[in-house]
Amino acid sequence: MKVLIVGSGGREHAIAAAVAKSPKVDKIYCAPGNAGIGQIAECVDIGAMEYDCLVDFAKEKEIDLTVVGMDDPLVGGIVDKFEEAGLRVFGPRKNAAILEGSKAFSKDLMKKYNIPTAGYEKFDSPEAAMEYLETSKYPIVLKADGLALGKGVLICETKEQAMDGVKELMLDKKFGDAGNTIVVEEFMTGREVSVLSYVDGKTIKIMTSAQDHKRAKDGDQGLNTGGMGTFSPSPYYTEDVDEFCQKYIYQPTVDAMAAEGRPFTGIIFFGLMLTDDGPKVLEYNARFGDPEAQVVLPRMKNDIIDVFEACIDGKLDDIVLEFEDNAAVCVVLASDGYPVSYEKGFEIKGLEQFEDKDGYYVFHAGTALKDGKIVTNGGRVLGVTAKGDDLHQARANAYEATKLIDFDNKYMRTDIGKEL
Ligand code: AMP
Ligand code: GLY
Repeated sequence: MKVLIVGSGGREHAIAAAVAKSPKVDKIYCAPGNAGIGQIAECVDIGAMEYDCLVDFAKEKEIDLTVVGMDDPLVGGIVDKFEEAGLRVFGPRKNAAILEGSKAFSKDLMKKYNIPTAGYEKFDSPEAAMEYLETSKYPIVLKADGLALGKGVLICETKEQAMDGVKELMLDKKFGDAGNTIVVEEFMTGREVSVLSYVDGKTIKIMTSAQDHKRAKDGDQGLNTGGMGTFSPSPYYTEDVDEFCQKYIYQPTVDAMAAEGRPFTGIIFFGLMLTDDGPKVLEYNARFGDPEAQVVLPRMKNDIIDVFEACIDGKLDDIVLEFEDNAAVCVVLASDGYPVSYEKGFEIKGLEQFEDKDGYYVFHAGTALKDGKIVTNGGRVLGVTAKGDDLHQARANAYEATKLIDFDNKYMRTDIGKEL
C-alpha cells in the first residue's frame, strides 16, 4: 500500500520509520518532510496546511492511507477534507481535534465529566481576568485558549507577573487569536508524565509512558523549548497510577467526547501531573508528542499500519498493543542559541554511522539537503535515540551515540533522564 505522512519534524520521521517497518507498505510519501525522512520516503513539496493540494496529491497518487502528525492541520480540519474526498486518513476530525485546539473546551469537558484536572476560570475579557487575579492565590497559571506552539502557558509567581501575562496574551496578542480567551488555572506540583494512546471513537489503548524535558538548559533551567529530550518508560508511571488513570481519565475522556457528539479517532496524548491528590490532566494533545514519539514508537512491537487501520475502522478492541520490555532515551541535538536565535546551514557529519545500527536511531527535525549534503536547518536539528535494557543503559547508549554526530554549534542537554 501507499502511505502519505503529513508533517516535517522528528515526530514524523519516527512515524515514517515505524510505517516503513510494515510489510504491507510499498511506498511512503511525506509532505513536506525533511532530509532524514527523505531517506525512507519521497518528500513532496506541499505544506501541511495546504489541504486541497494534499487531497489532490493523495487522489493522484492513489494513496491508501494518510497519517497526519501535526496539530495545526488537525485542528484546522484536514481530516474532514480527506474524508469528504473519500480518502482514508488517520487522525481526529476538526470537531474532535478541538480537544487540543481549545484549552477552554478541554477544561469545560473535564469539569462536566469529572475528569481530574486543576481548578480554573476562563475569561474573554482582560478586565475580568485582571479583576479575578487581584485576589488569586499565587503561583497561578495562565493559558492561551488556542494553539501557541506550546508556548502559550505562563506560570506566574506574583500578581504583577500575572497582570503582565494577561496583557501579553490578551492585549498585545503575542499568540494572535489564540489569546482571545484565556484559562486561569490553579498551579499544581508533581512529576509530569506523557501518556500516548490510540483511540477509535470508543475504545482506547494506552502506549508505554514517556517524559519530556522542555527547558533548554541542564537542571530544567532556561527557556521552554519544543522538547530537548525524552525517555520511556517513566519510572513514576506505576501500576497504581495506571489503574487510576484507566478508571478516571482515559476511558472517561473518550466517552465524554463521544457523548458530546465529537467521537475521537486518532492519538490522544495525555499530559499528566502526578500530584499528592493523585494524577491530574495538565493538557490534552490530539497527536503524537514530539519528541515522545521518538522514544515510544521504536519500542512498539505491533505493525503500526494494523493499529492505524483498526482505529479508522472502529476495531481497536481487536488489537493487543505490545511494547518491548526495555527503555529508550532521545537526546535532541540543537543549534546553540535555540530557542532564541541561532545560525543554520552547517554540514552535519557522521549520520551514516547510524545506518543498520540496531537499537539506534537518528530522527531528523530541522535538516535540509544543500548541494548534496545534509545541513542544519532549524533550532532542533536531530533526535538521537538509543534503546537499552533499562533507562540507565539506554541513557548511556544515547549519549555515546551523540558523539557520532558533528556539526558547528551543536548543543545538547547533558542530563536527559539523569535523575532516574
Ligand atoms: P501545557 O501546554 O498545558 O502542557 O503546559 C506546558 C507546561 O506548563 C506543562 O508541561 C507544565 O510543566 C506547566 N503547567 C501547565 N499547567 C500547569 C499547572 N496547572 N500547574 C503547574 N504547571 C503547569
Ligand atoms: N512534547 C510535547 C508535545 O509534543 O507537545
